[in-house]
Amino acid sequence: MASSFDATRVSVVDHPLVQHKLSLLRDNQTGCKQFRELVRELTRLETYEATRDLPLEPVRIETPIAPMEAAHLAGRTPAVIPILRAGLGMLEGVLDLIPDALVGHLGMERDEVTHEPREYYAKLPRDIAERTCLVVDPMLATGGSAEAALSYLRAQGARDIRFLSIVAAPEGLSRVLEGDADVRVFACAIDECLNENAYIVPGLGDAGDRIFGTL
Ligand code: PRP
Ligand code: URA
Repeated sequence: MASSFDATRVSVVDHPLVQHKLSLLRDNQTGCKQFRELVRELTRLETYEATRDLPLEPVRIETPIAPMEAAHLAGRTPAVIPILRAGLGMLEGVLDLIPDALVGHLGMERDEVTHEPREYYAKLPRDIAERTCLVVDPMLATGGSAEAALSYLRAQGARDIRFLSIVAAPEGLSRVLEGDADVRVFACAIDECLNENAYIVPGLGDAGDRIFGTL
């Protein structure tokens, strides 16, 4: 049966530059160095979209010519939370745009047989309830890892969570959106389905292995 999901909480960042870079990323001829660079570039472009509605506050400044009322980001510095290990490949892309973001780490690993996630590490910045949390993981496949990460973050008090993936499967989107009533999900593409090993089709293969050269 085809998966369905609440499209109002999903944004596909399908700018031509994103589509071009994503095609290079998917290509199995693309090596580790270029793969890492592309993940970072794609994350930068996605972060730009995922932070479009961050609140601003007025600030008085003086330009070399005149005083003016300008704008700064309001409130606490956002947090970026990579899901280990592949999410680490997206970290620098977020920091390129938000250099003072705080960084949390969540270790999740899929069991090769059951495909269910196992949490093996967690270290979060303080006050995550007051911060926009950008959770990053390039692959949203069954949605098990994302669902577990989100429920952990909710239990720690996180309220504004935006999940940035690069490639998502419809099955994973349904699971994540059903499991969390507020999260917003960003992806560069929503692919067709999962295969018998719970890999995204056509996807890009194992993102962690391609980022870290552990194929
Ligand atoms: C991959 C990926 C996600 C997860 C997605 O990580 O980075 O975390 O699988 O699959 P799911 O939606 O079915 O849970 P993996 O477990 O391979 O670990 P890695 O990041 O260490 O490679
Ligand atoms: N994890 C990956 O790295 N790739 C997939 O296609 C699914 C899970």
